[in-house]
Amino acid sequence: MIAIYPGSFDPITLGHLDLIQRSSRLFERVIVAVLRNPHKMPLFTVEQRLEQIRLATKHLPNVGVDSFDGLTVKYAQMQQAQVLLRGLRAVSDFEIELQMAHTNKTLSTQIETVFLATSNEYSFLSSSVVKEIARFGGSVDHLVPPHIALDIYQCYNQKSLASNPTITATILPQEST
Ligand code: PNS
Repeated sequence: MIAIYPGSFDPITLGHLDLIQRSSRLFERVIVAVLRNPHKMPLFTVEQRLEQIRLATKHLPNVGVDSFDGLTVKYAQMQQAQVLLRGLRAVSDFEIELQMAHTNKTLSTQIETVFLATSNEYSFLSSSVVKEIARFGGSVDHLVPPHIALDIYQCYNQKSLASNPTITATILPQEST
């Protein structure tokens, strides 16, 4: 059975990766599918996210990484997948996830949504929490893989450099005229 694990993954966290690892033992193949969403302003481009996820899942031979746009069930049909995989962290996730599952069921009766309970240690964790901590200069080393933590620090360093003209003037090389 093939499962699609769709999401924004901006960026992927240890919570997502825990779910991927566990689901890779349940399904023949798991495809982590990054939504190309033109309505969101992500921290990382889809290509950066794909690379981050590929590196984080390279030890799992039956896990693939891909991007898609449009409806998730259409993408699942195209991949001949039978399952949409989603994680449930808390009751607060349940309402929106159930609505999504019911909506997807109206679009395809052949595709089942399967929920996996997030491991207890990651029940607080989301991509937004990671970005919030990093934005205010905190460490995210315990929340994402090392290569992604590095990407995040670089990203926020660049942003703070760009928004602080004093630092920009002293650190960035001047353009020659
Ligand atoms: O990581 P996220 O942002 O919670 O993932 C949400 C996602 C990508 C799974 C959801 O928004 C989605 O499936 N979008 C694609 C459009 C779609 O299929 N909509 C119908 C279901 S509501």
